[in-house]
Amino acid sequence: MSSEDLITLLLSTLDLNGTIADTKGLRLPNQDAAVDQTTVRGALSSLQSRQMVDYKPLEREHLELTAEGQALATDGSHEAKVFNAVPSGPEGITVAELQQQLGPAAKIGQGKALAHKWLRFEQGRLTRLVDTIRDETQLDLQAIGRTGALPADRSPTLVKELLKRKLVTKIKSVSYTVVKGPEFALTVTKPATDITADLLQSGEWKSRPFKAYNFDAVGIQPPSGHLHPLMKVREEFRAIFFEMGFVEMPTNKFVESSFWNFDALFQPQQHPARDLQDTFFLRDPASTSTLPADLVDKVCEVHSKGGYGSIGYRYPWSPAEAEKLLLRTHTTAVSSYMLSLLARQQPFQPAKYFSIDRVFRNETLDATHLAEFHQVEGVIADRNITLGDLIGFMNIFFRKMGINNLRFKPAYNPYTEPSLEIFSWHEGFQKWVEIGNSGMFRPELLRPLGMDPDVRVIAWGLSLERPTMIKYGIDNIRELMGHKVDLGMIQSNPICRLDKKMGKELLEEPVQV
Ligand SMILES: *[C@@H]1O[C@H](CO)[C@@H](O)[C@H](O)[C@H]1NC(C)=O
Ligand SMILES: *[C@@H]1O[C@H](CO)[C@@H](O)[C@H](O)[C@H]1NC(C)=O
Repeated sequence: MSSEDLITLLLSTLDLNGTIADTKGLRLPNQDAAVDQTTVRGALSSLQSRQMVDYKPLEREHLELTAEGQALATDGSHEAKVFNAVPSGPEGITVAELQQQLGPAAKIGQGKALAHKWLRFEQGRLTRLVDTIRDETQLDLQAIGRTGALPADRSPTLVKELLKRKLVTKIKSVSYTVVKGPEFALTVTKPATDITADLLQSGEWKSRPFKAYNFDAVGIQPPSGHLHPLMKVREEFRAIFFEMGFVEMPTNKFVESSFWNFDALFQPQQHPARDLQDTFFLRDPASTSTLPADLVDKVCEVHSKGGYGSIGYRYPWSPAEAEKLLLRTHTTAVSSYMLSLLARQQPFQPAKYFSIDRVFRNETLDATHLAEFHQVEGVIADRNITLGDLIGFMNIFFRKMGINNLRFKPAYNPYTEPSLEIFSWHEGFQKWVEIGNSGMFRPELLRPLGMDPDVRVIAWGLSLERPTMIKYGIDNIRELMGHKVDLGMIQSNPICRLDKKMGKELLEEPVQV
């Protein structure tokens, strides 16, 4: 049976009779079984949505015989069986004999037969009080079996009793009464969902019904990518840099020469960081031949002989070592390159650069270390800036990230002098934690690149992973990066909002240096 057949039947019946009083027992042509009322309801609801019909449910209850009720309807009630088993003479029958004859039916039937005053019980024997009986229970059950209800002249309390005796059960059912709707027609025209070229050309659009827009429909969540927590925190940091007038450095290459990663930064060639243990060198190609010759000479000079007030490292500097390719160990490799471009520009223009990108170190992996991580780096170049500028600037920068209480500790870095580690008071840990490293680039770094003698460069760096892990409460870095990351975490974790202060507030509050 298709639903179209049913719809045709419903519509043609309505057309013929004006109404369908009750859909119960509705039968399709050439079908024996009546149509299931759930199916009827489906068809009616679809017709009603087109205003072709209106319908109301007809709820009703009927009685059905249980297996035992069925048996009693056929064979007679227990009480009738008991009556029939008692002989008509005055000698009657003993209870034991009755039980032997009828089994468990004897006990139930006996009580009823006595209550009906059909029998008498005296001196251990049952005798008849009447000659004939009318088995009302059997008649009631037969009537229920035929019509699903007790005859109207019978007391409704009898139903309760039959239910209690588990001879009948109550069945609820629903069918429908149907009338024509305002848009009644004999066939269903599917409303168009969209206007098409065909509808326009044929002119059908003028008469064809259109399906109404459902503005309450919930939209489908479009499948889309999700930002990794690191990228969310990165966006916040970028916003801080941009609002402070920084320009983003092009850090979109992971492979660097040793020259830009180490030599140009005045890091000696025998420095331990340049070991296999700390740095990933490339095997193929292992080296580059595109280093800027003029800078190579100047860098060689400052390493081996010194200059600009420095005695240098005084070792034979090897160009081959500088040509080795590696995965950059810090984004400062890009900063040194950018400073060399800045130095070539005349006249000098002050500059503020930043980058947030990936760096690689051959680390022993543990809960807080991976072989690759992200470095946040800022560089400011201007004439005559001092350590005081660095400290003042750090206070402003970290305040914008919601970090107020800073301390600075002298430190050693190969390419900055002086150098300062930055600590902040951590309320949760109740101690000072290191949040970054900073310093002023050495003249041995800046001058060979061609920087004017009074141009100073302050720089600082921090990892992106640590603030991200603190922000999102992740205590194992392997749950943040790598193959163990739970994609569900990335889909559901909230956007990052640093508790940062905006520029205006910062101007109102004097910065303590
Ligand atoms: C990383 O360092 C270990 C020693 O700690 C060394 O055995 C290994 O070769 C290094 N890996 C690479 C790819 O350089
Ligand atoms: C930097 O300091 C030098 C020496 O004190 C001075 O001659 C020069 O004018 C200063 N430059 C700026 C931009 O203040």
